Amino acid sequence: MNTEKILEVKNLKKYFKVKNGMLHAVDDLSFYINKGETLGLVGESGCGKSTTGRTLIRLIEADEGEVLFHNKDVLKFNKPEMKEFRQQAQMVFQDPYSSLNPRLSIFELISEPLMNSNQYRKDKVKTNARVKKLMEVVGLSERLINSYPHELDGGRRQRVGIARALSPNPEFVILDEPVSALDVCIQAQIINLLKRLQKELELSFLFISHDLSVVKHISDRIAVMYLGKMVELSDYNAIFADPLHPYTQALLSAIPIPKVNVERNRTILVGDVPSPVNPPEGCRFAGRCIHAQEKCHQETPELREVGGNRFVACHLVNNEPSE
Ligand SMILES: Nc1ncnc2c1ncn2[C@@H]1O[C@H](COP(=O)(O)OP(=O)(O)OP(=O)(O)O)[C@@H](O)[C@H]1O
Ligand code: SF4
Ligand SMILES: [Mg+2]
Repeated sequence: MNTEKILEVKNLKKYFKVKNGMLHAVDDLSFYINKGETLGLVGESGCGKSTTGRTLIRLIEADEGEVLFHNKDVLKFNKPEMKEFRQQAQMVFQDPYSSLNPRLSIFELISEPLMNSNQYRKDKVKTNARVKKLMEVVGLSERLINSYPHELDGGRRQRVGIARALSPNPEFVILDEPVSALDVCIQAQIINLLKRLQKELELSFLFISHDLSVVKHISDRIAVMYLGKMVELSDYNAIFADPLHPYTQALLSAIPIPKVNVERNRTILVGDVPSPVNPPEGCRFAGRCIHAQEKCHQETPELREVGGNRFVACHLVNNEPSE
C-alpha cells in the first residue's frame, strides 16, 4: 500500500447557526487518505458525513481546521488555485435522481466539467471523443449520449454521475452514498465499477455511507462518525474482527450474518440520536451506551491511538500504543 498522503484533514469544524443555537455538524475531525486508498466514512443519518465531504472541497466553507491536499491547505486557496483543485478533487452526490440537472443531456452533463479547460472548450471533436470514452469506461451505451436523466434508471444515472466526476481526470473522489438509492444488485455493479476504476486510474476515494455492509466491500480503512465526532478509525479488517468503540459494536451487530452457524453477541442500539445543537460536555454516545459511567457524561473522550494504527474515542478503551 502506498503511504503517500493525498489528503490530510486536521481539526476540521463546521457549525451551522440555527434558531436555538449552534449545530455542531462536524466537530474537530482529523484523518488522512493515502494515494490509491479508500477511506470509508460511516455513521447514522445526520452525523455529519455529507457536511464533511462538502467542506473538504469547499462546497460549503469550514469554520476551522486545515484540509491539506498534497500538503497545501485547500481552505486557503485563492480563486485560480481553487479552480485547479476542483479538477483534481471531485464528488459524486448522494442521490442520482436529484443531483443531475434534468435539462442537460448526458453529453452535456459529462462534458460540462471539461469546459473549464481550454483544450476541450475549443475542440468539439476532442470533447466528443472524451465523453464517449468516459461513457465506455463507466459501462454506458453510446446510444444514450443524447438522452436526458429522466429517461435512465437509477443505476445508469449514477454511472453518469461517476463519468461526470471522472471527466476532468481527478486524483481524489468523494463518493457520497453513491449506491444507497439503488437496488441491491445494482449496488454491487456500481461498487465493482468503482473498484475497477480506482485500480485503473489510481484514484483515492472517500466513500461515505450510513451502511457498514456497503463500506465493507470497498474500504481499506474505516472511520466511524457519531454526532459530528469521529469515534473510531481503523483498518477494515480490525473494525470487522474486533470493533472497539461501543457504537461501532452496535453498528456491526446490526449487520445480518450470512452463515447460519455463526453466533454473535448483539448490541442493540437503544434511544434516538441526540440533537447536535449545543451538545453538552461528555461522550456524545453516553445516552445510548450500555457501558456509560459518570465520567462519560462529564469528559469528552479524545480520539487517541490504542495500538496497531487504531484510533478510538472512548474512556473505557485503555490499550497503550504499540512501539
Ligand atoms: N445548511 C444547513 N443548515 C443547518 N443545518 C444543516 C445544514 N446542512 C446540514 N445540517 C445539519 O447538519 C447535520 C449533519 O448533516 P449531514 O447532511 O452532514 O449528515 P449525514 O451524515 O450526511 O446524514 P445522511 O446520512 O442523512 O445523509 C444534520 O443535523 C443536519 O440537519
Ligand atoms: S466514553 Fe463512555 S459513554 Fe462513550 S462510548 Fe465509551 S463507555 Fe460509552
Ligand atoms: Mg448525507
